[in-house]
Amino acid sequence: MNKVLLLFLLIVSAEGFGGMPRAALGSKVGVSGQVVRKVGGKVLLRNLILPTLYSTMQPGDLPSNPSPPPPSDPPVPPPKKMDDRLYTLNKTIIDTVYDIICFVYKDKDYPRFFVLETVARVPYFAYLSVLHLRETFGDRSGGERMRTHYAEADNELHHLLIMESLGGNDSIIDRTIAQSMAFGYYWYVILVYFVSEQAAYHLSELIEDHAFNTYDGFLKKNEAKLKTLPVPDIARKYYEEDNPFLFDLFCTVPETDEETGQFSKRRPKLNSLYDVFVNVRNDEREHWKTLCNLVQYEDMKGPPGGVVGSKVIGTQLDEDLREKRKLEGGGLGDFKNPFE
Ligand SMILES: *[C@@H]1O[C@H](CO)[C@@H](O)[C@H](O)[C@H]1NC(C)=O
Ligand SMILES: *[C@@H]1O[C@H](CO)[C@@H](O)[C@H](O)[C@H]1NC(C)=O
Ligand SMILES: [Fe+2]
Ligand SMILES: [Fe+2]
Repeated sequence: MNKVLLLFLLIVSAEGFGGMPRAALGSKVGVSGQVVRKVGGKVLLRNLILPTLYSTMQPGDLPSNPSPPPPSDPPVPPPKKMDDRLYTLNKTIIDTVYDIICFVYKDKDYPRFFVLETVARVPYFAYLSVLHLRETFGDRSGGERMRTHYAEADNELHHLLIMESLGGNDSIIDRTIAQSMAFGYYWYVILVYFVSEQAAYHLSELIEDHAFNTYDGFLKKNEAKLKTLPVPDIARKYYEEDNPFLFDLFCTVPETDEETGQFSKRRPKLNSLYDVFVNVRNDEREHWKTLCNLVQYEDMKGPPGGVVGSKVIGTQLDEDLREKRKLEGGGLGDFKNPFE
């Protein structure tokens, strides 16, 4: 037992100290063209355990400074690609778990959403835990990210509270299933995040994609009924009455307003339960966009020109998008909704 604890502390402190000079050092292009972080034991870990995760990058394309580029003259760094096998493996795992949940809960929408929301929010707890731990050892570089991850966790909490207010948490069996899965998944994400942030963010990208589609399908199927149902108090409080600071914080990729052409802030309005689910669904898309940018650019805002799921990176669609970005010189107006 003591040995296990010692090992854990060792790993943890190696990570903590290793993470310290991260911001100062940035990325370095290795001989083989792989992105290598010049941080002690972590190089070993990354190169031995996940040698293929990071794809090749052109040395000339690397941004010279790790902070997001100014909007006026945006150099678009090439998106990082994912190893095909890792991508397929994890997609298979996530898809299978998701399909099982949907099969077990096929006629019980609110309990299903309760289970999904309980599990889908723990990755944000895991990211925050690891980033807090790094702070303990002096690495403050995760500050902005921590605020956003907290805002996302808070948003997911309110999704959960909405599902509870609709009776999703009524059965002790559902609560037990949801909480056991969430407990296991929390520690799994902690481990993956230690080894590779990109991999951990990618897992959540897949989950948020499912979440969006789940709510979208539910809305299409039950539109008429949902429009006759009342708005839960908790939804009104969160979306309409609370200070929108935290809400705006997780909307890292604003979209342009159709009428004015200006970047618009999302200001949800609720007339029925239908609108509540529209907002929940759109929140999942905000999470998804932020995660795509973190996977591909290690940045929450990403370059201008739209967000593309990591799965299409490296395919023809990706080439088309980059071509388009070059032509148009940026502008978020052409946000591409991959779900349509
Ligand atoms: C179910 O959710 C409601 C609303 O959040 C909460 O008040 C209640 O305590 C929960 N029930 C259980 C058994 O956890
Ligand atoms: C996929 O899962 C494996 C273990 O199941 C993990 O080590 C790896 O980092 C994950 N990769 C991605 C891309 O999520
Ligand atoms: Fe959610
Ligand atoms: Fe989400």
